[in-house]
Amino acid sequence: MERLNVALLGAGTVGTQFLKLLSEREDRFEALATTVNLTGILVRNPERERPEWVPKNLLTTDAEAVLRDAEVVVELMGGTGRALELVDYALGEGIPVITANKALLAEAWDDLKPYAEDGMLYYEAAVMGGSPAVEVMAGSLRGNYPLELHGVLNGTTSYILSRMEAGHSFGEALAEAQEKGYAEADPLFDVAGIDAAHKLTVLARLIADPEFPWEEVRANTKGITHLKADEVMQAADRGTPIRLVASLYGEEGRWRAKVRPVKVPKGHPLATPGVQNAIFFRGDAVGEVVLTGPGAGGLATAGAVLADLFRLIEGYPGHSPAPAPVPAPAGPFLELEEV
Ligand SMILES: NC(=O)c1ccc[n+]([C@@H]2O[C@H](COP(=O)([O-])OP(=O)(O)OC[C@H]3O[C@@H](n4cnc5c(N)ncnc54)[C@H](OP(=O)(O)O)[C@@H]3O)[C@@H](O)[C@H]2O)c1
Repeated sequence: MERLNVALLGAGTVGTQFLKLLSEREDRFEALATTVNLTGILVRNPERERPEWVPKNLLTTDAEAVLRDAEVVVELMGGTGRALELVDYALGEGIPVITANKALLAEAWDDLKPYAEDGMLYYEAAVMGGSPAVEVMAGSLRGNYPLELHGVLNGTTSYILSRMEAGHSFGEALAEAQEKGYAEADPLFDVAGIDAAHKLTVLARLIADPEFPWEEVRANTKGITHLKADEVMQAADRGTPIRLVASLYGEEGRWRAKVRPVKVPKGHPLATPGVQNAIFFRGDAVGEVVLTGPGAGGLATAGAVLADLFRLIEGYPGHSPAPAPVPAPAGPFLELEEV
C-alpha cells in the first residue's frame, strides 16, 4: 500500500462531507493500492461543533504543521485571501492542489495558470458542484471549436427563483437556501451573480481563451436582487421561467461573457428546477450538448473533490486551460431575453 499524505484546508459544508466520503470509500483507495493519511485539517475554530466522523484530533489553526509533510493539498476553505497564500505556497513547493474554489481560480489566475498548465491543479468541483463540467470541457469536448455556451451555474439563485415561482418572497427563499447549505458563505456572491461569473470565467479559459480576463466577466454581470416575486411567477406561468444564465458567445469577432437573469425559452434545458445546474454547449463538430445535475451542496461537491483525488492517485494530470485562444464564432446564437 502506498501512503499518501493529504492536507485538508477547511472542514465546513464541503470539507466535512469530503471527510465522510474518505471514511466510507476505503475499498476504492485499497483498489488503488493507496492509504490516505491526513496530515491535519486547517480550520478557523477547532472548538466549533462538527459531525462525529470529523477526526477532532486533526483540527488545527496551524497551517505550517498541516502543510509540512503534505503530498497533496485539498483546499476547501474558500476565498481569495488566506486560501491563495496557502495554495500558492503548496504549488510553489511542487505539491498538487485539489480545489473547489472558483473565486480563487477566477480572480488569482495570473498566479495559478502556470501550475494549471503543468497539470498540478485539479478543480472539477469548482463548476457545477458534483456534476461533471470541468473535465468534460477540458477533455471530452476539446476536439470541437466551441460556438456558444450558456449555463445555469449557480444553484442558490435557481433555488431562490424556483421558490419565488411557488409564491415565496426573495428573503424567505434565500433563508431556505442558506439553511440547506446551498448558499456561499457570503450570499451576495450568489444573488449578485458573482459566483456564476467566477464559474463562467473558469469555463471560458477551458474552452475559449486561456487568458480570459475576470474583470471583463465581472463588468458584464448582473444578479437577481432586482426581481420581484410577481414577475418571477408570471414568467414561470407563461412557460418561460427566469434563470440566472452565464453566457459565452462571439460578438464582432471577440468572445463575450455575460451573466444576467433571462427568460428561458419554452422547454429549453436551461429551465432547471431547484438547485439543478445546466450547461448548454454548442460545438462545431458535436452540435448541441447539455449537461445537467446538482450544482451545489456539501455531499455532491465532495464527490467531485474525491474524484479529483482518485484521478491524481491514478496518475492523471489536473485540468489544463485551452492551449491557445480559439477564434470567436459568428452567430446566430441562442436568443435569451434579459429581465
Ligand atoms: N457549499 C457548496 O455547496 C459548494 C459548492 C461548490 C463549491 N464550493 C466551494 O467550496 C469551498 C468551501 O465551501 P464551503 O461551503 O464548504 O465553505 P464553509 O462551509 O464556509 O467552510 C470553510 C472552511 O474553511 C475554514 N476556513 C475558512 N477560512 C479560514 C482561514 N482563514 N483559516 C483557517 N480556516 C479557514 C473554516 O473553518 P471553521 O469551520 O473553523 O469556520 C471552514 O471549516 C469554497 O471555495 C466554495 O466556493 C462550495
